[in-house]
Amino acid sequence: MASPTLAASGEASNRTSPATSITKRRTLGNGKHALEVSALGLGCMGMSYHRGRIPDKSVSIALIRKAYESGVNFFDTAEVYGPYTNETLVGEAIQPFRKDILVSTKFGFNIENNQMAGLNGRPEQIRKVAEESLKRLRTDVLDLFYQHRQDPNVPIEDVAGTVKDLIAEGKVRNFGLSEVSVETIRRAHAVQPVTAVQSEFHLMWHRVIENGVLAACEELGIGFVPYSPINRGFLSGMLNPQTKFFAENDNRAGLPRFQPDAMAANWPFIELLTDFGHQRGLTPTQVSLAWLMKQKPYIVSIPGTTKAAHLMENLAVADITISDADWKAFDDALGKLTVEGDRYTQTERSRVQN
Ligand SMILES: NC(=O)c1ccc[n+]([C@@H]2O[C@H](COP(=O)([O-])OP(=O)(O)OC[C@H]3O[C@@H](n4cnc5c(N)ncnc54)[C@H](OP(=O)(O)O)[C@@H]3O)[C@@H](O)[C@H]2O)c1
Repeated sequence: MASPTLAASGEASNRTSPATSITKRRTLGNGKHALEVSALGLGCMGMSYHRGRIPDKSVSIALIRKAYESGVNFFDTAEVYGPYTNETLVGEAIQPFRKDILVSTKFGFNIENNQMAGLNGRPEQIRKVAEESLKRLRTDVLDLFYQHRQDPNVPIEDVAGTVKDLIAEGKVRNFGLSEVSVETIRRAHAVQPVTAVQSEFHLMWHRVIENGVLAACEELGIGFVPYSPINRGFLSGMLNPQTKFFAENDNRAGLPRFQPDAMAANWPFIELLTDFGHQRGLTPTQVSLAWLMKQKPYIVSIPGTTKAAHLMENLAVADITISDADWKAFDDALGKLTVEGDRYTQTERSRVQN
C-alpha cells in the first residue's frame, strides 16, 4: 500500500547513529514501588518457548549478557516458559551481574507433565512458585512478580494480599498484573500497589487504549509493559504467508492471525511501516517499537529476540526522534487499516480481559 501522505511529508526525522548502548531510562510504578529501567527491556521467552527453534544455551546466555553490556537492565521471564527452562536459562545468564539488573517473572498456572495445565492463583501456589522461581533465577528476591493470568476462582484481593506478604518477607520487591481489566487493577492496587501491568499492545492491538487500562495506569501511577510489541515478529516484515512455523515449539502456528490468509490480509501494515521507515532510515521493527515508546513515558516494551543483530536494531530505537506531525500522518494512515484474524485461540482468549 502506498501512503502518499507520508511520502509527501517533508520533515525528515532525526536518528542518531545506531546505538551500541542504551542509556535512556524510564520509570515503572510509583513511590516505594517504582522501578527505574532501561527504556527497552528484553523478553527472554522466545529463547526457550513458543518462538520456534531453540538456540543453543550458550548462544542465549551470550545474548542476554550482550543486552546487559548494551545497557539493558530489565529482563522478563515466567515459570511457564519452557516450562521452567527459561527461568533456569535467565538465572544462569544474569548471575554475574544480578545486583545490577531487574528480573521479572510470573505465576498463575498449574504445570502438569511439563505442560501448562489451567489457572491457579491460590495463595499456596503463588508461594510455591515464588520459592521455586527464586531458586531457578539464582536470587534471593524477585524484583517484579506478575500474576500471568487471573484465576476467576480466586479473588484478586487474595492474590494481591499474598504478594504483599511475600514483599513483607523480602522474597518479592514489586507486584505486577498481566491481561487484566481496569476493575481488577483497581481492586488489586488497593491492597498492594501495582508497579506494572503487562499486556499485549502494539500497533495491531491497542485494546488497552480503548478499554481504559492505559488511562487507569496513568491515573494510579502504574507502569505499562507491552508484551509481543512486534506482534510476535509479524511487524518486522520478516514473516509472510509462506512462512512455515516450527509447530513443535511455536504457538504462532495455531494463532488465527498467523494463518496465511490473515498474514496476506494484514500486509498493508507492513507496507505502511516499510514506507514510513524507508524515509527515515528505520526498519519496520524500529518504527513499531518507536510507536509504542511515543505513546506514554511510562511504557517499557520487552521485545523478544534470539539474535544479537536484532537486539542491537531494537535497542537503537531509544535514540530515534520522530516529529509529532510525522506521527500524526502515520496514525492517520494506520487508522485506515483493519486487522484480520484473532490474536488468540478460543482457550487463550477466555483467559484475557483485554
Ligand atoms: N504476559 C504475557 O502473557 C506474555 C505473552 C507473550 C510474551 N510475553 C513476553 O513478551 C516478550 C516478547 O514477546 P514475543 O516474543 O511474543 O513477541 P515480540 O517481541 O513481538 O516478537 C518476537 C519475535 O520477533 C522477532 N524479532 C525481534 N526483533 C526482530 C528484528 N529486529 N527483526 C526481525 N525480527 C525480530 C523474533 O525473532 P528472532 O529471534 O529471529 O529475532 C521473535 O520471533 C516475551 O519474551 C515474553 O517475555 C508475555
